[in-house]
Amino acid sequence: MNSYKNIIILTGAGISAESGLATFRASNGLWNNHKVEDVATIEAFERNPDYVHDFYNELKLELIKAQPNPAHLAITKLQQNYPAKISVITQNVDTLHEKAGNQNIYHIHGQINQSVCLNCGHILETFGDVDTQTQCHNCHVTGMMKPNIVFFGENLLCMDTVEQLLSSCDLFLSVGTSGVVFPAASFVQIAKYNGAKTFEFNLEPTSNNFYFDKHIMGPAGTTLPAFIEELLKSS
Ligand code: APR
Repeated sequence: MNSYKNIIILTGAGISAESGLATFRASNGLWNNHKVEDVATIEAFERNPDYVHDFYNELKLELIKAQPNPAHLAITKLQQNYPAKISVITQNVDTLHEKAGNQNIYHIHGQINQSVCLNCGHILETFGDVDTQTQCHNCHVTGMMKPNIVFFGENLLCMDTVEQLLSSCDLFLSVGTSGVVFPAASFVQIAKYNGAKTFEFNLEPTSNNFYFDKHIMGPAGTTLPAFIEELLKSS
């Protein structure tokens, strides 16, 4: 294996599946029990903020209980032992990367334990319920808190940093994402264009398969630690 200097690990719901969390598009996925247009669009939030708050307050109860699995933990081992800049760009709103001790985490779709005040932009960090009665701790206005989740049609978070990271990336690992939601699904193309080696870790080849140098089939809790062990041996 080569030695790398700028590694990006892009993660999706699949990396949290072995921690017991539902993915989005599997048969028992989140989007099979709730319509995206009812809980994940700004129109839905404007139409029925209480229903949207309830959905994310429920989801918090699930996510707060989940524990990181060997895939998350292997990233920490890599970051602690491999001499490179290693960034985690996650589409996940769970905090399993944080619980595993990962560093340099960029939640481009937001975070379940955050709400943002639409009046002043203050971020409230809590796993507790947030709703239309919640008062902003900064501007003290009530009823303007929104889950800090990027709804379909909204801009992703951390994109300036993500673009910089992609421009100098020499190893791009995509772990547990179906590669169907843009712009995250285009990151591998940008990395490849900039000369990165690209690996996809998934149970099955995804629609993005063309851009990957290698597809490593299997559960990320097994395949990613094995890959990282090899990388560490070669460093
Ligand atoms: N190991 C590796 N991959 C897995 C595992 C596992 N144990 N379990 C499931 N997968 C794979 C599935 O094969 C699938 O390709 O994880 C992927 C999950 O895909 P999605 O459910 O589409 O989730 P994700 O790709 O993260 O969705 C992206 O879509 O709805 C939006 O904002 C939401 O962030 C989400 C985005």
